[in-house]
Amino acid sequence: MSKIFKPNKDMFDNPVFRDMDDYNKLVKKFDDNYEGTWGELAEKNITWHKPFTNTLDETNTPFNRWFKDGKMSVAYECVDRHLENSGDNVAILFEADDGTNIKLTYNELAKNVNKTANLFVNEYGIKKSDRVVIYMPMILEAIYTMLACAKIGAIHSVVFGGFSSQALKDRIIDAKAKLIVTADGAYRKGKPYMLKPAVDDATKDGCDSVQNICVVKRNFEPIQKNKKDSFYHELIEKQSDEFETVWFDSEDPLFLLYTSGSTGQPKGVQHNMAGYILWAKLTMQWVFDNKPDDIFWCTADIGWITGHSYIVYGPLANGTTTVVFEGVPTYPDAGRCWKMVQQHKINQFYTAPTAIRMLHKTGENEPSKYDLSSLRVLGTVGEPIDPPAWKWYYEAIGNSKCSIVDTWWQTETGGHMVSPIASCTPIKPACATLPLPGIYAKIIETNGEPTPINEKGYLCITKPWPSQIRTIWGDDDRFVKAYFGDCVYDGKPVYFSGDGAMIDENGYITITGRTDDVINVSGHRIGTAEIEASIKENDMVASSAVVGKPHEIKGEGIFGFIVLKNSDTISKDDLKLELNKILKADIGAIALLDDIIVVPDLPKTRSGKIMRRILRSIVKGEPITQDTSTLEDPNIVGEIEVLYKV
Ligand code: PRX
Repeated sequence: MSKIFKPNKDMFDNPVFRDMDDYNKLVKKFDDNYEGTWGELAEKNITWHKPFTNTLDETNTPFNRWFKDGKMSVAYECVDRHLENSGDNVAILFEADDGTNIKLTYNELAKNVNKTANLFVNEYGIKKSDRVVIYMPMILEAIYTMLACAKIGAIHSVVFGGFSSQALKDRIIDAKAKLIVTADGAYRKGKPYMLKPAVDDATKDGCDSVQNICVVKRNFEPIQKNKKDSFYHELIEKQSDEFETVWFDSEDPLFLLYTSGSTGQPKGVQHNMAGYILWAKLTMQWVFDNKPDDIFWCTADIGWITGHSYIVYGPLANGTTTVVFEGVPTYPDAGRCWKMVQQHKINQFYTAPTAIRMLHKTGENEPSKYDLSSLRVLGTVGEPIDPPAWKWYYEAIGNSKCSIVDTWWQTETGGHMVSPIASCTPIKPACATLPLPGIYAKIIETNGEPTPINEKGYLCITKPWPSQIRTIWGDDDRFVKAYFGDCVYDGKPVYFSGDGAMIDENGYITITGRTDDVINVSGHRIGTAEIEASIKENDMVASSAVVGKPHEIKGEGIFGFIVLKNSDTISKDDLKLELNKILKADIGAIALLDDIIVVPDLPKTRSGKIMRRILRSIVKGEPITQDTSTLEDPNIVGEIEVLYKV
């Protein structure tokens, strides 16, 4: 077993968990009284306008309802409740691409959120439950927009700015959005880039539900003004900065966030108000040991769940200062993040292994130029972290003193699930360690039998938890099938994450990666089915299969096996170029193929199912252990292997 790193007690002043006894006590409390313990935490951590009468209603499981009859407000929890005692504390520390800073207090945040909420109601008629698509850069107005939606009870759906106009359009149509909030663009690496043209393109036709498009001017580059467009800055000044808190039901929807599944269209993961905010707030305190006077920086984009839970909702609910960064970690050089840590005295830094690998590779000695002594906790998320990256993070960034929390969770889980608790969990490098108290994560076989120690099994969550996905927007059946169709435990269907994992003799969990047809590129989920559907748009392509191939920086890159209708017509490089043009237009730059080979056929079963596992073994250079005798053409595997090695 690899070396264990104990938390450095000097780093933690009055943490929630002083030691593993505290952890074990809370785990036992949940074991003894599951609902009661959640109820107690909810009572203490949420401001209830009207108390809830029932903690968990599983009558219609898996459509579980939490904190029934309770009335609360996520916007109140994140903003207004801080005003009385800490309104002058900095809520958001914005750093622009060019290094300019804005420090926004909770008082100022409240005014801006209220103005934005008034703008949405007065100018666009936005009401509770209307859907608002947010396609924005990392700027303050994006956060105002999210919180304004929460204030009104409108359901936001943030679409990552790197998604193409087609991907944006699909999401607008699926959610039947009434309003789109966007920006002309923003700045990246010292240069302006654009977002608005993608919105123009997406809404050209077919987005009938959209009544208005609100445009924030950020880079002031020329843009087209269409009939439905209006400008945020022209309308915002006349809005009142007061907005009376509206109280919502615990189970009113808060947001949708589209993510990839193993088949078909992206899924609109729905999170509801009380359960989501409770867990976002608690995990800030538990996992990161975050306190209101800390400066917390999560480098994600608000277009992903990490940005939702750990840039916006978790930090603000906890009353801390959250850093919002417009730029990229490598501009003007690979020391940018460490310069920011020094300048802003950041206490907790949370990023993806891809970023760590990249910064290690491109700026190994950069950290030594800066004073990083403010850091207490370092976090990783989104993909497995490899031991060399972990070591550099621990030594060069954390000065061998900070706890590293390798947090495993998903869009669907809302917040951390399996993760060290910075102040108490002994850490095993590159291991997500233990389930958080209240989370019943088990490694099992599909029939519920526990997987033997140190062998790969299915990572399932066997009890509901408050921030659990409520449904897939507009598709309850798909929700049930996608998450509760594969594994049973105690004779009942349970939530299967799609991930494989191993548990060791101490109960420590190591994530081994997706077991389904989802690729994890730089910590971003992309479904193979989505990519293959786009590839098929090329007339020359007869069929294709894509798999994740280990990549030095990105964790996984996308590798395509392409069958052409007529293989003599195009070179491999030209074909890749053509296919990537389509992928860029359909999905966005995150879905580009790293490499392809042209093959005569794919390994298919007689019923036509592509055996992707065989292809995965080929790109990983692993021996093929699968039974190939059931394939339509067993010889194809050898042929592909030869072509791959050329
Ligand atoms: O495969 C797991 C991987 O990321 C997937 C979830 O992706 P997404 O919903 O986009 O959310 C990413 C940010 C929470 C998981 O199914 N994953 C997430 N965290 C880890 C991880 N893989 C290994 N280690 C992690 N810490």
